[in-house]
Amino acid sequence: MPVVKVADYAHPGGWTQGTDPATRAREYCRALEEGSVLAFDGIPYELSEEDLEFLRSQRQSASRFHKNISYRPASDTVRGFETGAQEEKNRLQEIMRNFSRRTVDLVTALLAPYAPHMRLDYASYRPFEEEGRDLPLKKRNDLLHVDSFPTRPTRGSRILRVFTNISTEQPRKWRTTPPFSELVPQFAEDESLRRILRGYEGPLAGLKRTLLRAGSAAGLPLVDRPPYDAIMLRLHDLLKEDSSFQENTAAESHDFQPMTTWMVYTDGVGHAVMSGKYALEQTFFIPPEAWVAPEAAPIRVLEKHYARELGA
Ligand code: SIN
Ligand code: FE
Repeated sequence: MPVVKVADYAHPGGWTQGTDPATRAREYCRALEEGSVLAFDGIPYELSEEDLEFLRSQRQSASRFHKNISYRPASDTVRGFETGAQEEKNRLQEIMRNFSRRTVDLVTALLAPYAPHMRLDYASYRPFEEEGRDLPLKKRNDLLHVDSFPTRPTRGSRILRVFTNISTEQPRKWRTTPPFSELVPQFAEDESLRRILRGYEGPLAGLKRTLLRAGSAAGLPLVDRPPYDAIMLRLHDLLKEDSSFQENTAAESHDFQPMTTWMVYTDGVGHAVMSGKYALEQTFFIPPEAWVAPEAAPIRVLEKHYARELGA
């Protein structure tokens, strides 16, 4: 996975004088869509030392957390921070709200073609040491995978994530897979994926989806997924389950240094986190209207392979 250093945008100040933001923004969008990581030497948005200290101090209370802490911008709510004083919870909520807004400003400035179209998904704070976490296989992030969210089908939109390592000591160590277009020929003919596609054919398929949609609208915990999301969700699991792939694929290692930010399309770049703690992350859904390199989108690569439409 190529790492593209962003040397002409920083905080404070934004774009370096003399750069042409419109041209650079398109180049950065293209690099991301084609599978690069954009990496900064520092943190390209405001984050106060007091807020950082507060976040890092959560290590003492790690036993209180059951998972990563998530923040939902649309409802301004924090999840995963279950006990603790109300005052602490309010502080965390405020920090996450500010973090989320600043990443929106960052993406708006740096990746301007996305700004009119992007949809803000959840943010997270990841206070745990990732090495040796005891999680069920499908939730393990130390196994290579592409991202797909069971509760939030993207319907083809891409998953862009902005990460910041707020540890002052430890790099965040990742491994990444060969490009998505090379994973597809390796996995797309797996019987489980073919079976999923067959499930969308035939006279009852439409009725089943109508019922799923109605159930979901009525508040039942049902999710109607287009074929694309069903395939991506299964692919996420398939990669994690395949121990030969995990051990033998030509994965690259990347150390993201303390107090730096990086951005990547985690639906297209297979990844795993091997160690590190204290990371902030904000997710964006980027729809087709915004893409600069549509042919690189996982939905397009899969549609080409299966010779059928997958988004509806
Ligand atoms: C992931 O998205 O799989 C985890 C990445 C990270 O927490 O560094
Ligand atoms: Fe992931």
